[in-house]
Amino acid sequence: MKVTDAEFVKAFCKMCKNGNAFGWHERNGGNLSYRIREDEVEHIKAQLHESDVWKEIGVSVPRLAGEYFLVTGSGKFFANVSDNPEENAGIIKIDEKGEKYSVVWGFLNGARPTSELPTHLMNHEVKKIYTDGRYRVIYHAHPANLIALTFVLPLEDKVFTRELWETMTECPVIFPKGVGVVKWMVPGGREIALATVEKMKEYDVTVWAHHGLFAAGEDFDMTFGLMHTVEKASEVLVKIMSMTGKRRQSITSDDFKSLGDAFGVVIPEKFL
Ligand code: 13P
Ligand code: ZN
Repeated sequence: MKVTDAEFVKAFCKMCKNGNAFGWHERNGGNLSYRIREDEVEHIKAQLHESDVWKEIGVSVPRLAGEYFLVTGSGKFFANVSDNPEENAGIIKIDEKGEKYSVVWGFLNGARPTSELPTHLMNHEVKKIYTDGRYRVIYHAHPANLIALTFVLPLEDKVFTRELWETMTECPVIFPKGVGVVKWMVPGGREIALATVEKMKEYDVTVWAHHGLFAAGEDFDMTFGLMHTVEKASEVLVKIMSMTGKRRQSITSDDFKSLGDAFGVVIPEKFL
């Protein structure tokens, strides 16, 4: 099977297109990665070129040894991924120690994986461990309303979680564990990866102050839906703050408890 005919490649391209249509990917902003299932690798194996060229990841991800990932390219525009996935994205394989990767498909004409590869892979590793292998997608975007909030709200997990939960009734059901916040850091590389993965041990979404958002999920739809929900809630909050600066009435801690009971999700006490 041609790599571009595989369902996971089509779903990856569709997600890039949808994220771009929402305006979350100016220029080369944002990046996406997918941990490919073994059976999916088997179907495309004949098209993959195993290579002797191994590059340092910059962090160690031993629990991802031997795994394959479809990843967007560094400096590549989400707008172009679906038209030409082989130039704007590629498939990498992780070595047996989890310290290096090699390109086995795509990244044509000198392209290389996203500069946020260390954060993506560390998040994949922690989610693989914490979800028994269920989670396969890590997504980074630059949604404007969420970014705007990082200039006016205290950069605290509790504040962001409560403020977003209170803007839309279904938020605590969609991200019951809450939202993590990482202070402003230099993007790309090890330091921001280490800070993000600490948050991702607890949350499925982590805010990067004055930069964007990381989301994790089991498939493309769930991960995109999570990004969309957080950004929609942020948009509502920006409107509330623009209109009045404060809420006249809101969703209360008792309401969150009732939501938890009704939808069967655990609402952490620390956010109530
Ligand atoms: P890349 O083009 O290297 O993926 O970087 C985009 C980005 O959003 C960095 O945080
Ligand atoms: Zn970014």
